[in-house]
Amino acid sequence: QEPALLAGQHVVVTAGGTEEPIDPVRYLTNRSSGKMGYALAEAARLAGAEVTLVAAKTLPVNPAINVVTATSAREMLTAVQEAMPSANVFIGAAAVSDYRVAQVAENKVKKHGDDHLVLDLVQNPDILKTVGQNKEPGQVVVGFAAETQNLVENAQKKLISKNADLIVANNVLEAQAGFNKDTNKVTLVSKDNEPRSLAAKLKTDLATDIVAEIARIQSASNF
Ligand code: C5P
Repeated sequence: QEPALLAGQHVVVTAGGTEEPIDPVRYLTNRSSGKMGYALAEAARLAGAEVTLVAAKTLPVNPAINVVTATSAREMLTAVQEAMPSANVFIGAAAVSDYRVAQVAENKVKKHGDDHLVLDLVQNPDILKTVGQNKEPGQVVVGFAAETQNLVENAQKKLISKNADLIVANNVLEAQAGFNKDTNKVTLVSKDNEPRSLAAKLKTDLATDIVAEIARIQSASNF
């Protein structure tokens, strides 16, 4: 019997790639499957937590997990902000679109005479950064960093800029890491510890490691 590392805690997880509408039938998105976020939600549930999963993608999930569907970045932020007052832990595993279409067309965009069509994009809110900035004492905030170079250095910068307690960093150019895979290979970067590189493993197993790391951070004397 595993110890219930997050017994009685409320864990909020974001998952999946957001969808940003262009018109009633089209949207911008990315290759994130949501597998890592769903695995984290399940690992937190198994560790005894009450889990709110704010998801842009639908995957099979244990019925004890409270799933809130949020398709766009702004919907996701609203759902997260509703859940945060009672949260002990926030894990931002979603691949949030950095930009959205400035003016969503009311009707389907038609082909027109010109060869070019220009979409005007505006920046989306940064959900992780917003949560980090509004963090209450005792709340643990966890983010991900998908990098192609200077993995640890960029993760350490993100730890500070997002006011997070843990960044799970992966080099997306590695074969066993990244989008739409069942495995991931990451380095855990936290404020109070040396960066720790983990072996490549299933996202479900990595989720268990991340939950253990969160519990370690909560019990650290300087947290
Ligand atoms: O800044 P960057 O996108 O590289 O940071 C990645 C981390 O920030 C992930 O944890 C992701 O879920 C989160 N994020 C977010 N909202 C955004 C962009 C990123 O929550 N608009």
